[in-house]
Amino acid sequence: MSRRRLFVTTALPYANGSFHIGHIMEYIQADIWVRFQRLCGHEVHFVCADDAHGAPIMLKAEAEGVTAEQLVARFAAERPSHLQGFHIGFDNWHSTHSPENTALSQDIYRKLKAAGLVYSKAIEQFYDPLKGMFLADRYIKGECPKCGAKDQYGDACENCSSVYSPTELRNPYSTLSGAKPVLKSSEHFFFKLSDPRCRQFLKGWLEHPGRLQPQVLNKAREWLEGEGDKALGDWDISRDAPYFGIPIPDAPGKYLYCWVDAPIGYLASLKNYCAKRNLDFEKTLNESEQIHFIGKDIIYFHTLFWPAMLNFAGAPYKVPDHVYVHGFIGVSGEKMSKSRGTGVSPLRYLEIGMNPEWLRYYIAAKLNANVEDLDFNPDDFLARVNSDLVGKYVNIASRCAPFLQRHFGGKLHSLAGTFEIGCGLRPDSLMYELHTRASAIAALYDSREFGKALREVMLLADAVNHYVDEKKPWDLAKRPEDAERLHVVCSVAINAFRLLTVYLKPVLPDLANAVEKFLRVTPLTWIDAEKLLPEGHQIDAFRHLMARVDEKQLDALFEPPAPTAAAPAARSPQTHAEHQQHAAREQAVSAAITIDDFARLDLRVARIVEAEAVAGADKLVRLTLDIGSGTRTVFAGIKAAYAPEALRGRLTVMVTNLAPRKMRFGVSEGMILAASGDDGPGIFLVSPDSGAQPGMRVK
Ligand code: 2FM
Ligand code: ZN
Repeated sequence: MSRRRLFVTTALPYANGSFHIGHIMEYIQADIWVRFQRLCGHEVHFVCADDAHGAPIMLKAEAEGVTAEQLVARFAAERPSHLQGFHIGFDNWHSTHSPENTALSQDIYRKLKAAGLVYSKAIEQFYDPLKGMFLADRYIKGECPKCGAKDQYGDACENCSSVYSPTELRNPYSTLSGAKPVLKSSEHFFFKLSDPRCRQFLKGWLEHPGRLQPQVLNKAREWLEGEGDKALGDWDISRDAPYFGIPIPDAPGKYLYCWVDAPIGYLASLKNYCAKRNLDFEKTLNESEQIHFIGKDIIYFHTLFWPAMLNFAGAPYKVPDHVYVHGFIGVSGEKMSKSRGTGVSPLRYLEIGMNPEWLRYYIAAKLNANVEDLDFNPDDFLARVNSDLVGKYVNIASRCAPFLQRHFGGKLHSLAGTFEIGCGLRPDSLMYELHTRASAIAALYDSREFGKALREVMLLADAVNHYVDEKKPWDLAKRPEDAERLHVVCSVAINAFRLLTVYLKPVLPDLANAVEKFLRVTPLTWIDAEKLLPEGHQIDAFRHLMARVDEKQLDALFEPPAPTAAAPAARSPQTHAEHQQHAAREQAVSAAITIDDFARLDLRVARIVEAEAVAGADKLVRLTLDIGSGTRTVFAGIKAAYAPEALRGRLTVMVTNLAPRKMRFGVSEGMILAASGDDGPGIFLVSPDSGAQPGMRVK
């Protein structure tokens, strides 16, 4: 096969948060694919970047009293260690807030305009007179025009499911300031997706054989071919100041909508990387297949807007060759939230010292080429890693290498022509089977059927263990006349182990590295699956390669970390109450903190929209809290003091930036503030004075 050149990206994460398990899953998927391609000798440029622009980032920075650049820099600083932690080997990590992205985005914008695909028109939108800014739908709430339910978002009612535009809401208010929004007109720029040229191009691009997964093609086709009110409309690509984004050329006060410059960030990162490596950006771009790994929630942007933008911008840009879409990852059946992740924190996973390759293996074993969701199930995780990786694969080396060391000075027997030595199973038939599976396993990796690839590998590992069981090297070792048989059997097993290592290397790069040292071989590549270790090859003494997952580690992964200042609302009731008392006593002696420490807490006014007792828990109440920008679920140990029905509708204060915690009863997404004394008289919920609105910052 000729050498492929690949330019591979993963979706750019928003720059206002740490990685959650959804990000890490996507990076692991792409990283395995990239490593596999490299092992086959192909050239890959694998890049990503922070998606830095947009109103939420601007507002969050403002709420924290820092600049957007400072906020973005804080999260950017933690990226490298988290990526390295999971052996994710991007060649470059950049930012959409960069000179490269500004230049590329403005260039693409100008070219689209020159192609006659950008026009402007005035539109009326809600404007917050207090904040002095236009409001995206998610920052407007009010009463549903159909059923009258209060506090509904600007686009749809959660109560009666009707869909409307924000201007139809009754008594609308800005969730940013509480002010009554006013309608204001402003000039916006539109990308003419409805142009027949766009439709025609997109049809051809989508239908190109093998470009998209069938499920993705179907979705995109539906959007493209929609008619009437489902017809593909033009795309509003501008935003008014104040906005954290890229200025639109020749249009003062107008910025590119962040979803325009986000995918251009792929190119900006490549350009930045090319400069560092002394490569020609345009040549690299043009000679490479362009492949984007993304989640199913952003198919629309990547299969309609993005290819159309690239196509009509013209040279040096080129359209993507593939967009590979994956589903979401949930935990024990709980769905993941895009912005907040789930109860499994990848950062905590690393902090408590769990082996990153366990997670890589587990995720790979559950991945296929379809757009299916996958579930992280702790029991399944433990069983798979322990039985497959340790019990099957590593076991082969730990069973056989010590005999080689003890009896043959660590030197291997030749495997050539040994199939006649008459010990039942012909050793070469096992090796033959192992060799001949290489191309099937390669095809599975290449088509992102990682689960199937690993099942193949584990079947081979079973076959090798079966061979060892049958040959019983421990018995052969007792009889001097069986020395040669022992030597052959253990040499077969070690050769087999080496081959399995080649097959697992895309998933387990670090372990493969340790095996290469133990076997004293140069870094393995896919071609090594065709070779055997030569007679007399010397290996090292067996060394410990991988520990088993301990159940306690999984407990630690799901447990909240030891609280320092106050207990999360979502702890087991007993510990919660005990801890609250303890915390009250501790207060007098708490060490001073800086204003910056305090500013890291995101405290918000929250309205309790739903409260219900938790079946099976004496003291817990499950609260649904409206914090302006959305709702959160929190488990609070306050049932002894408050009947759930008395809580509904009242305001309290919530810590909104506590990492979500998986509890026995569900995921708790923060804590509410309550006071309690040393020995009673109970628990007292904190509430703001009247007039406060959900979402207001408490500081
Ligand atoms: O959905 C998201 O998380 C976006 N930040 C993804 C952007 S992908 C690309 F277009 F940059
Ligand atoms: Zn309604």
